[in-house]
Amino acid sequence: MPHILVFDSGVGGTSVLSHIQSLLPTAQYSYVMDNALLPYGLQSEQTIQSRLACLIKRINDFEHVVDLIVIACNTASTQALAATRKLTSIPIVGVVPAIKPAAAQSKSRRIALLATPATSNNAYTNSLIAEHAKGCRVDLHKSTRLVALAEQYYWQQTLDLDKLAHELEYINIDKEVDCIVLGCTHFPILRTQLEKFYGSHVDLIDSGHAIAKRVQFLLEGKQSNRSGVKMPLQFFATAPSGMTNKEGVTCRAIDLNC
Ligand code: DGL
Repeated sequence: MPHILVFDSGVGGTSVLSHIQSLLPTAQYSYVMDNALLPYGLQSEQTIQSRLACLIKRINDFEHVVDLIVIACNTASTQALAATRKLTSIPIVGVVPAIKPAAAQSKSRRIALLATPATSNNAYTNSLIAEHAKGCRVDLHKSTRLVALAEQYYWQQTLDLDKLAHELEYINIDKEVDCIVLGCTHFPILRTQLEKFYGSHVDLIDSGHAIAKRVQFLLEGKQSNRSGVKMPLQFFATAPSGMTNKEGVTCRAIDLNC
């Protein structure tokens, strides 16, 4: 049965994990979050690359052999995917902003990318736009407050709706935009509230389902768990401090200072 390791700075990657779990429900999953350095959107490329290099160094410490790594973080993928792939033969799937499907879908030819500061100001993101959004105007918007709100919502199941509305008004996406790319895996955690704010004439597009399809494709042929029993999620954090996730899984410590 395949063992899939999903990585993010915080709980954002769980929005990708749930898409993968619905296609591959009986795989074994480890979720690793580098919450000691959250938010990644304010970290340097070099820091993110060295945290991922350390994760690769520690890969044999996991109880089961890791078959595939998903960097479920747009910030880390746009800055460190190529460098990390050079360090291991384990296949790595990265998550990058869904510019291509948004450009294919937009009728007004006006797209907004909502991402972290690091992702919105990044050579990889610029090349994605140049290559896949020809004929569209793409407005770049950044927010770290939305990351913090998504974290709070995940852990405490409460959301300060005034704070959220204030931040979305501050971001101020143009009314002509009909597709918003959720270019940070934290943002789908707030999807219901974002949909309410932007209304039904705006599509919110993320990469979760496409990533899950890619993972399924890459693992085709790997022996599946014949018993059909769901394996318990292993949850690791660089700053665990007694955290227990929604399913009651307690975070174990992992050190990414190599
Ligand atoms: N979830 C991450 C992303 O997709 C990063 C959030 C952060 O740590 O800034 O970019």
